Amino acid sequence: MALLVSLTDTDIRPWVDVFEAGLSGMDIRIYPDVVDPSEIEYVAAWHHPFGEYKKYTNLKAILSLGAGVDHIINDPELPQNVPIVRMADEALIHDMCLYALHWVLHYHSNYYRYVKQQQEKQWLEHKFVAPKKRSVGIMGLGTIGKRVGEILSDQGFSVVGWGASDKYLTGRIEYFYGKDQMTGFLNKSEILINILPLTESTNNLIKANELHQLPEGALVINIGRGFIINQSDLLTALESGHIGAAVLDVFDVEPLPLDNPLWSHPNVTITPHIAGQSDGETGAVSMVENIRRIESGEAPFPLYDPVQGY
Ligand code: GLV
Repeated sequence: MALLVSLTDTDIRPWVDVFEAGLSGMDIRIYPDVVDPSEIEYVAAWHHPFGEYKKYTNLKAILSLGAGVDHIINDPELPQNVPIVRMADEALIHDMCLYALHWVLHYHSNYYRYVKQQQEKQWLEHKFVAPKKRSVGIMGLGTIGKRVGEILSDQGFSVVGWGASDKYLTGRIEYFYGKDQMTGFLNKSEILINILPLTESTNNLIKANELHQLPEGALVINIGRGFIINQSDLLTALESGHIGAAVLDVFDVEPLPLDNPLWSHPNVTITPHIAGQSDGETGAVSMVENIRRIESGEAPFPLYDPVQGY
């Protein structure tokens, strides 16, 4: 029995060390070192070549390196009925919270202006706005979104949230749900942070109409998936000034093509899908634990639900 580690763009060694220490008796192989595809029972995966997993006839589970699993389920030849396990890694969640907090402060506290002013040697103070007077909207209140919202609320920001269903209830974050309450949510989001997973219902969710429901000059931060916010509508809204700035970590096509106008837009910050990085020390431990659970007949966590799409 073998675990295939297929983590294309990560420092693989810490992961392999944890797998070797935690999975005695399991052969740990690093993609593409597959001698006999029928030996592979588990895959620890980030982006993989589509069509590859169908060769693994004894696959018991696919363990995603990321919180999202779209990179797995988009494979048109994905073997059916193989459980897909998402990543709920503390290091990843914490990293995304820090990313969101950093960029919220960068704009809220005018640091972006001071960075530009230094280039002009300009000593000019901007008005301070108390965090409670700034409303931040979080789209997607799963494990990660909820924590991002709570951290911002801990800093005094006024946080609103939006999700597809009415399941989220808390006193700390004013919650909106469903298409009917989207406008109310967007109207309040001076800073919009998208952390939704990509599903059929979130694909192209935020288009020109929705962007125009944000307050004038709003900041858009996307750490969910590119396709959720329509890229050309976002560019148009940035051009018109209705959207003041955007911080984008995820894109329809990654890496972002060199001729994409977002690269050179003065009010756009681009990061290369690094907002939430899984850490070998903790991420691999949760994968080992999930393999242990599957081997002893327990359910792995968190399991991808094909009906919900995440
Ligand atoms: C990153 O994008 C992830 O899915 O965790």
